[in-house]
Amino acid sequence: MLLAVASVWSLLFVACETTQRTVVAPAQIAGATYVGAQQCAECHAEVAGHFDGSTHSNLAVNDDNAASSCEACHGPGSLHVAAGGGKGTIINPEKSPETCFQCHLDKRGQFSLPNSHPLMAGKVTCSDCHDPHEGNATKGKGGATLEAESETCTKCHTAQKGPFVFKHNAMIEGCTVCHNPHGSVNARMLAQRDANLCNKCHLERPAVAGNGTIVVGTEDHRSRLMNGTCWVAGCHEAVHGSNSSKALRY
Ligand code: HEC
Ligand code: HEC
Ligand code: HEC
Ligand code: HEC
Ligand code: HEC
Ligand code: HEC
Ligand code: HEC
Repeated sequence: MLLAVASVWSLLFVACETTQRTVVAPAQIAGATYVGAQQCAECHAEVAGHFDGSTHSNLAVNDDNAASSCEACHGPGSLHVAAGGGKGTIINPEKSPETCFQCHLDKRGQFSLPNSHPLMAGKVTCSDCHDPHEGNATKGKGGATLEAESETCTKCHTAQKGPFVFKHNAMIEGCTVCHNPHGSVNARMLAQRDANLCNKCHLERPAVAGNGTIVVGTEDHRSRLMNGTCWVAGCHEAVHGSNSSKALRY
């Protein structure tokens, strides 16, 4: 028997409660009711075992029958449980970002920007970068470090991983110091389109000396800053790290 999963993406509904939970109207599956997280844990012990304390463990469904955070993303689980599990009876958000958009409304817009990860085309999913079940959802699997965040990116973008002979220490701060991870109006998803991207760190020990020079690093950049971005050809185009030049050139 085939059970169709009809998903009605209802609008976000946040209500005030006496507890600290965030109450929402979750995705729907026609004919199904909520069963509660304990039921899920019986068969999915591994996921349930590390779910406590994760970013989404405080979500609750606005239904008396279920203080279940699982069903906030997966939809009501009664039909899935009755079928003894299996595919086609429960929502798997990996196949569509709609579950996430339901609560994170602004992300649909970010992924529609002219320069964005091809999520709408189905080539990237939210869970490529966010762990829905364990720990801090924004920091990548396995830890709350910036390094873990960069590893999330370099598992696909191997060219930026290095190692480089001449490292750029900006990389220690993580990729998002320069890139908006979801999307941006700027090319290459850059956070800024011009020298400000670099100068937020490099003019910190600047030097606008009395003689009118603008020193970045050790060099006068007065005329260079007018050439366009700092990473145009002939300047610091190997911005992630270089194997040939300390000044980050190819
Ligand atoms: C009776 C055991 C059982 C219970 C209870 C159960 N599941 Fe499952 N679930 C399964 C089995 C078996 C699969 C299929 C695994 C596979 O094919 O790899 C599955 C698959 C899934 C999938 C993947 C579906 C897909 O299409 O990829 C999700 C998501 C899921 N379960 C969530 C839940 C949630 C949430 C609950 C609680 C509401 C729950 N399960 C309760 C046994 C169960
Ligand atoms: C924030 C939304 C969210 C919540 C809350 C959530 N999940 Fe998931 N779940 C996902 C996403 C996204 C995927 C697909 C990506 C993946 O597998 O990590 C998934 C996949 C799954 C799968 C199938 C893949 C697998 O790992 O076997 C199961 C089973 C599952 N979830 C069970 C649960 C259970 C049990 C809970 C509650 C303890 C839960 N989920 C809570 C978003 C969520
Ligand atoms: C039912 C509503 C709901 C759904 C569905 C949902 N989220 Fe969330 N999400 C929240 C809420 C509420 C928070 C804030 C939690 C907190 O601060 O304690 C949050 C927080 C987050 C954060 C961390 C934000 C931060 O400031 O660090 C990420 C990342 C995230 N969600 C990603 C996802 C992804 C990916 C999905 C789909 C798999 C998803 N969410 C589905 C409600 C939801
Ligand atoms: C290419 C990797 C990637 C993908 C795909 C991705 N994210 Fe993120 N997301 C990040 C990173 C990295 C951060 C942390 C940003 C920071 O620290 O400045 C983040 C932050 C967030 C936050 C908290 C800050 C904010 O911008 O609101 C939420 C919520 C979030 N993501 C939701 C989502 C949802 C929902 C999806 C899917 C529709 C998604 N993300 C897809 C990488 C990604
Ligand atoms: C699941 C694989 C995957 C992950 C993880 C991922 N990306 Fe991407 N990224 C892609 C794909 C696919 C494209 C589109 C590539 C293309 O069109 O050539 C892309 C494009 C980009 C681009 C634009 C490239 C260009 O040539 O315009 C940047 C910048 C980028 N990603 C940065 C990041 C950052 C930063 C992270 C971590 C927060 C990240 N990516 C995580 C797959 C991924
Ligand atoms: C110091 C700022 C900075 C940091 C940090 C940074 N990037 Fe970039 N990235 C840039 C700039 C600037 C460009 C545009 C280069 C161009 O257009 O020639 C770029 C371009 C890209 C591209 C497009 C291909 C290319 O090399 O031109 C990808 C993919 C990318 N970055 C991924 C990443 C990843 C992944 C990380 C983290 C591991 C990261 N970036 C960290 C500044 C940065
Ligand atoms: C998050 C801070 C940060 C950002 C943003 C940043 N840098 Fe850096 N950069 C550093 C640090 C730290 C060093 C190593 C110490 C130093 O020489 O100032 C460095 C070193 C360099 C060097 C090598 C200088 C030398 O002679 O050793 C160049 C060239 C450079 N950065 C160019 C850029 C460019 C181009 C951008 C913008 C795309 C940029 N940086 C953005 C922090 C940053």
